[in-house]
Amino acid sequence: MSTSREHFSSKIGFILAAAGSAVGIGNLVGFPVAATKNGGGAFLLIYAFFVAFICLPIMLAEMGLGRRTQHSPYSAYAELGQNTKRWRIAGWLATITPFMIAVFYMVITVWIFGYLFQTLAGNLDAIAQPTYFGEFVNDYSFIAYLVAVTVIINFILVGGVRKGIERASKILMPTLFLMLILLVIFVLTLDNAMAGVKFYLIPDFSKITGSVINGALAQAFFSLSLGMGILITYGSYFRRNDDIVNSGKLVAITDTAVAFTAGLMTLPAIFAIYPETNPESLSDSSVSMIFSFFPQIFMQLSNTVGYGFASVAASVFFLLAFVAAITSLVSIIEVPTSSFMEKRNVSRSKALLVMGIAITILTLLAATSFGLLPWVSNVVTYAGIDKSLFDIIVDVFYDTILPLNGLLICLFVRYRWKRENFTAELSKGNSNYPNTFLHKYVNFAIGTFIPVILAIVFINTV
Ligand code: PFF
Repeated sequence: MSTSREHFSSKIGFILAAAGSAVGIGNLVGFPVAATKNGGGAFLLIYAFFVAFICLPIMLAEMGLGRRTQHSPYSAYAELGQNTKRWRIAGWLATITPFMIAVFYMVITVWIFGYLFQTLAGNLDAIAQPTYFGEFVNDYSFIAYLVAVTVIINFILVGGVRKGIERASKILMPTLFLMLILLVIFVLTLDNAMAGVKFYLIPDFSKITGSVINGALAQAFFSLSLGMGILITYGSYFRRNDDIVNSGKLVAITDTAVAFTAGLMTLPAIFAIYPETNPESLSDSSVSMIFSFFPQIFMQLSNTVGYGFASVAASVFFLLAFVAAITSLVSIIEVPTSSFMEKRNVSRSKALLVMGIAITILTLLAATSFGLLPWVSNVVTYAGIDKSLFDIIVDVFYDTILPLNGLLICLFVRYRWKRENFTAELSKGNSNYPNTFLHKYVNFAIGTFIPVILAIVFINTV
């Protein structure tokens, strides 16, 4: 085990960093809209069930594996998999996936940054125009925003684990919680807000179908940043005797609480501004919600509270989304960066330079999918649909490889690393763990039905 590896300085540092990774755009927009459309409280229950019974065990497996090996995914799989080819492939997949997901997330983050910039500049009226987003994605100002976002991320990551990731999380996460709570309080004071709360919370079990259940699982899995190598890498920065089990629980609870709270901001705002809203008609796409629908809501809000105040609320919203996205991006870019540092034995700044250049180029290509460069807008056509580079990344990595990575982690931990070793790792810092129900459940579930469920999801998508 390398002794020079950096570690988080405290348990709370780890929890905030991992929660920073987990709390992202998926929580702020994806979750509330999915919950509203799919049975409100009924969806919430199913989601919470998946977080506790499917995602938490995988989370503990990733964190335990990272801490045991003190490596990022590639070397973690190589070491405990005794360098066999099949586990090296799993390690490789767990390294390339975050790289590709970082590209797609980066595109959205850069747009958010652009919208934040516009709202701060007092241009809420412009971004609320229905045609604005279409023009915005085809504008070369994207490059300037991309450079700014890249600089901010590298500024955090170059500081390393303690002075970079941990310090930034300790500042940004409390700021995020505060902004979210302020927005919720503000929204709940608007007329008709309670109609939105009702719609959000009242359970409607008739809406629960197979595809809703599948969607809830995918949302929970993505929201907890599973299958991306992030928790293996952050786990490797966890100190020897820190309590993985309780930290994992706290991260899962924080992430779910933020997603739930975001619903108390989003739905009441929609109902207050458009009292006749039919939740069925809300867009499924987080992208169109953030960049088309929300600016219009803020613009409408100016009729009630004035343009200045509506602009401030819009700026706080985009800042909130930006902070959530940045802390997620930091965690995901750390995975290939630390793998590169380990594999090539290079310094953090060199690894970041290489990753920065590679991700920037791919982000530019993915962003140009929306029209800047026609040749990446239609890379392939399958099932009769033209697919851009952006779509391909989402289809292949987000929809398909993520559950596969989760499946591989379960099989690896249970059948290769073996459950006694896994239990021993989780018991460091939590000596009572072997006596708990959670321990029995995790050891059983991770070797049986969780991989089966993930295999079904994977095969269905393929
Ligand atoms: N948990 C994040 C979210 O809900 O948005 C998922 C994530 C996506 C993390 C992309 C990191 C990332 F780069």
